[in-house]
Parts: sequence; structure tokens; C-alpha cells
Amino acid sequence: MITTTFSSWMLAAVLALSASAGSAQPAQARASANTDLSARLAQAQTSPQLTTELLVKGRRAAAVCANCHGEGGNSVKPEFPNLAGQNPSYLLDQMRQFADGRRRFEFMEGMIKAMTSDEKVGVALFYASQVVIASAPVNSALAAKGKEHFDKICFRCHGQDGHGNNTYARIAGQQSAYLTLTLKRYRGGQGPRNNPLMTDNTRHMTDADIDAVVAYVTSLK
Ligand code: HEC
Ligand code: HEC
Repeated sequence: MITTTFSSWMLAAVLALSASAGSAQPAQARASANTDLSARLAQAQTSPQLTTELLVKGRRAAAVCANCHGEGGNSVKPEFPNLAGQNPSYLLDQMRQFADGRRRFEFMEGMIKAMTSDEKVGVALFYASQVVIASAPVNSALAAKGKEHFDKICFRCHGQDGHGNNTYARIAGQQSAYLTLTLKRYRGGQGPRNNPLMTDNTRHMTDADIDAVVAYVTSLK
């Protein structure tokens, strides 16, 4: 739940963004550059030179994201997701979902819409290259219980180590409060974040199952 506690962060971030928006490309260039993020990512993945160029843009654009997601993408509050070590194609897909309203969070939507296509790809490449700082398990008995559930279900898509792949998100070391909120949203199957695959895989989870899985996943390196 995004409560008013975060509003000062958000306000600061949005102000910083609008201050830098003047240097962005004209709207028309943005629209045409927005057409195919995946193709641009694929292009960068075979060209070290393009990767370097995009990383410069990405790192610059990430200055505003650092207010919430942390300097290297290790977030500053358990409610904000880490972006460090995340798969670039997943990051781009989520940015697309914020921009077209499939995933709803007003502040993210505005910020993503203000970014050029190359900034988005650059940001995704930048965060993907950063190392995640996993938290030590707070309750190892609970984490052990969560591991059982994880090893039955979650590993199938997110991998045994929780690192995901080109298609599925990395969840290892993700922030605990964010994981709990996200899993409950998927389980509910409606609201600001939905995905049929995740609803199918969380529908039968109790709150206690979610707590256990979160304790495990958040401690994965
Ligand atoms: C004011 C705080 C704030 C700022 C600044 C911010 N974000 Fe976020 N971001 C969030 C929150 C909160 C979420 C989780 C939203 C939700 O629960 O769906 C999020 C989610 C995301 C996600 C999805 C992560 C995932 O694991 O699914 C991406 C990608 C993202 N942000 C990218 C960015 C980028 C890029 C910037 C900078 C241009 C940025 N964010 C700036 C607060 C922020
Ligand atoms: C059949 C494949 C599949 C299985 C099994 C699965 N997931 Fe997922 N998971 C996905 C997909 C696809 C997404 C991305 C959904 C989206 O775009 O919102 C996702 C997203 C997530 C996210 C959001 C990541 C982020 O950064 O916001 C979390 C957390 C998550 N899954 C946890 C789990 C857990 C815990 C389990 C086991 C109970 C599990 N998943 C089982 C496919 C799966």
C-alpha cells in the first residue's frame, strides 16, 4: 500500500523530474522512439558500443529513480522494489505496463512517460548490471517453511535460485514489504497489478504461506 508516508519522497522525485524534463526530446521524437523497446534492447545486447552509449543515458536518467529505488537499484525502503540485478527485458516490460496503464501507480506512470526510449533501455541495462544486496533471514524457521513452498511451485518460472530469466522476474533478495503486497495483489486477481499466471500460482496461498515465502525469497542471494 502506498501511504502518505511516501508522499514527500514522491513529491521530491516528481519535482526533480519535471526540472530535468526540459532537456528531453520533443514529444514527436519520443513517440517514434518508443515503438520497439525490445528490439533496441536486443540491438544493445549485440553491440558493446551501443550498450556503453545507452548506459550513459540510463545512469543519468536513474538519478531521479535513486530517490526511491536507491543509488544502484537497492531500494531505500522495504515498500520500494529493488531494481538491481533485475532482468532488463522484465524491467522494460514493467515500464511498458506502467506507461499503458496495465500496471497502475500514478507516480511511476508519469515518470516513465517522460523518458525517451533510449533512456528506458539504458536504465534497464544500468540496473541489470548492479548487484543486489540480499537481507539476512529475520526468521530462519519461517524461511525454511517458505523454501518448501517455493521448491514446489515458484522455482518453475523464477528458477531454483530465484534469479528468473529473460522472461520471468528475478525475485531473489527483493524487498519484503513489496513482495508481500505484490503477492497479495496477484492473489486477489484484481486491482493495480494483475497477472493470470501469478493469480493461478497464489490463489491457494494463505497469508501465513505468503509470509513464509517472502521470508525465504527476500533472503535469497
Ligand atoms: C517516488 C518513488 C519512486 C521513484 C522516484 C521511482 N519509482 Fe519506480 N517504483 C516505485 C514504487 C513504489 C514501485 C512499486 C509500484 C507497485 O507497487 O506496483 C515502483 C516500481 C518500479 C518498477 C517495477 C519493478 C518491479 O520489480 O516490478 C520499475 C521498473 C520502476 N519502478 C522503475 C523506475 C524508474 C526507471 C524510475 C526513475 C525514472 C523510478 N522507478 C522512480 C517508486 C518509485
Ligand atoms: C507459471 C509461471 C510462474 C510461477 C509458477 C510463479 N510465477 Fe511469479 N511471476 C510470473 C510472471 C509471468 C510474473 C510477471 C507478472 C507481471 O507482469 O506482473 C511474475 C511476477 C512475480 C513477482 C513480481 C516481481 C516484481 O519484481 O514485482 C513476484 C514477487 C513473484 N512472481 C513471486 C512468485 C512466487 C512467490 C511464486 C510461487 C508461489 C511464483 N511467483 C510463481 C510467473 C510465475
